[in-house]
Parts: sequence; C-alpha cells; structure tokens
Amino acid sequence: MPNVLLLGGTTEASALARLLAARGIAATLSYAGRTEHPRPQPIPVRVGGFGGVAGLAAHLRDQGITHLVDAIHPFAATMSANAVAAAEAAGVPLLALTRPAWRPGEGDRWRHVPDVAGAVAALEGPARRVLLALGRQHVHAFAAQPQHHYVLRFVDAPPAPPPLPDHHLLVDRGPFTPEGDRALIETHRVDLVICKNAGGSGAEAKLIAARALGLPVLMIDRPALPPRREVSSPEAVLDWLAHTPSPAKRGV
Ligand SMILES: NC(=O)c1ccc[n+]([C@@H]2O[C@H](COP(=O)([O-])OP(=O)(O)OC[C@H]3O[C@@H](n4cnc5c(N)ncnc54)[C@H](OP(=O)(O)O)[C@@H]3O)[C@@H](O)[C@H]2O)c1
Repeated sequence: MPNVLLLGGTTEASALARLLAARGIAATLSYAGRTEHPRPQPIPVRVGGFGGVAGLAAHLRDQGITHLVDAIHPFAATMSANAVAAAEAAGVPLLALTRPAWRPGEGDRWRHVPDVAGAVAALEGPARRVLLALGRQHVHAFAAQPQHHYVLRFVDAPPAPPPLPDHHLLVDRGPFTPEGDRALIETHRVDLVICKNAGGSGAEAKLIAARALGLPVLMIDRPALPPRREVSSPEAVLDWLAHTPSPAKRGV
C-alpha cells in the first residue's frame, strides 16, 4: 500500500488531499507553517521544515514514505529542489503537481521580470499606484521604492505594519473574482499590477481585471527548478500512484 507524503500549502494540494482521503490512500500533508490558520484537511497534517535535504531524506526513510508528491507553490523553489534531491537520496519516487504558468493573451500588457529584485528595480521612477499581489514575505523589498502607493493583500494580518510609508492593507484569503478585483483596482485607482506567475484559476482574477481595464502588469517569472516529472491535475497523481510501485516492491 502507498504511504504518501504530500508537500502542500496550495489549493491543488488540498484538492489532492480530498481525493486521497476519498480513495482511502494513506497520506500525510506537510505545511511549511507560514499560514496561521491553514484550512482543515481530511488527511493527517504535519507542520514545519524538515531540516534541508538530509532532514527530508531521513523523514522519508523513517516514516516509510513510498511516494513523494510535491504540490507546493511554483515559487517555493528551495523546497522543490530539496524534494528532488531527497527523493533521489532516499530512493522514493517523486511527482510534482503544478499549475501551468499563465500566458499573456490578447489585450494583456505584461512586462516580464525574472524575480522580486527585478520587480523592485523596474519601479524606479515617479510615484504610481501599485497593486502588489505578492506574499507578505516579499513586501519588505519594496521599501527601496517608497515613492509609490501600494495596495497589499495578505492571507493573515502581519505581526508588524509593512515597511512601506504609503500603503493600504487588505486581509483576505479569497477566493477572488475578476469582478471583485476590478472593483478593488478601481476603488484604489491602481495603475500597475505586480504579481508572480503562479498559474491557476483562483489567483488569475487580478489579471483578468487588469486586462479588462487595460492596465500594465509587471509579471515575475517562475524560478528555475531541477528536472522532475510533473502533472497538472490531482487525478493524474492518482494514476501515477496506481502505476508506480512502492520502493520495497521495486527492491530499492
Ligand atoms: N513562495 C510563494 O510564493 C508561495 C505562495 C503561496 C504559498 N506558498 C506555500 O508556502 C510554503 C513556503 O513557501 P516558501 O516560498 O517559503 O518555500 P521555500 O523558500 O521553497 O522553502 C523554504 C523552507 O521552508 C520549508 N518548507 C517549505 N515548504 C514546506 C512544506 N510544504 N512542508 C514542510 N516544510 C516546507 C523547508 O524547510 P526545510 O529546509 O527545513 O525542510 C524549505 O527549505 C510552501 O508550502 C508553499 O506551497 C508559497
């Protein structure tokens, strides 16, 4: 029988957790512990880092994990690289459940930057009204461009005020709609949207709204990851589990 470790913290991981529970497949969902009140899950949950590649490899062995599924956010590059290395070290098969990246369509006005530092550098110049749709861990970098008005949206209230002299903070974990995000952009007279190319439908609302309003978008492209096998639907993970024997059965 499989014993799955699911690296989560995303909508996709929660959807897969529901499917695994419904099929009665033994699995544990792992959270980094960044969110104060994670959604309740139908499978056992563990919280916190493993201690790098060696820690995760030891966890895979100690817990008798037969399959590792990386369903973390596409920008959590350290953890995804650790998963590739630890799975290799422990001889456990790995599959990544990812969302396809967004692609610009008709009417989009995207400028691509490679990372958060690139987005900060691109903000050089006169004051603008910016919807900064990034996790709160990146916001401090924008203190280097204090001339702008920033509209921030976080999942949890931050423990300390963001270090941006001119900002408006919203606490909302969604789901977001194009209509709602359009209203947000109009209410705050936003003239630039900054976001990561996370992919997926939930977070796409702001891009649909920006397109409808003809607003420019500063799109932070995805970080590079080591080669790994990827699928884009929870059902495809079940298929992989059904066709990928546990390490013991493969004689590893
Ligand atoms: N980055 C984003 O934009 C973003 C957006 C939405 C949600 N998230 C979620 O937030 C979490 C952290 O993201 P991050 O960008 O801080 O990750 P990261 O920089 O790639 O990872 C930093 C460290 O956090 C620990 N970690 C990360 N994900 C973990 C998990 N699912 N279970 C246990 N430990 C985990 C690991 O610690 P050890 O080395 O000690 O094992 C890892 O080395 C992820 O689960 C991700 O899905 C991230």
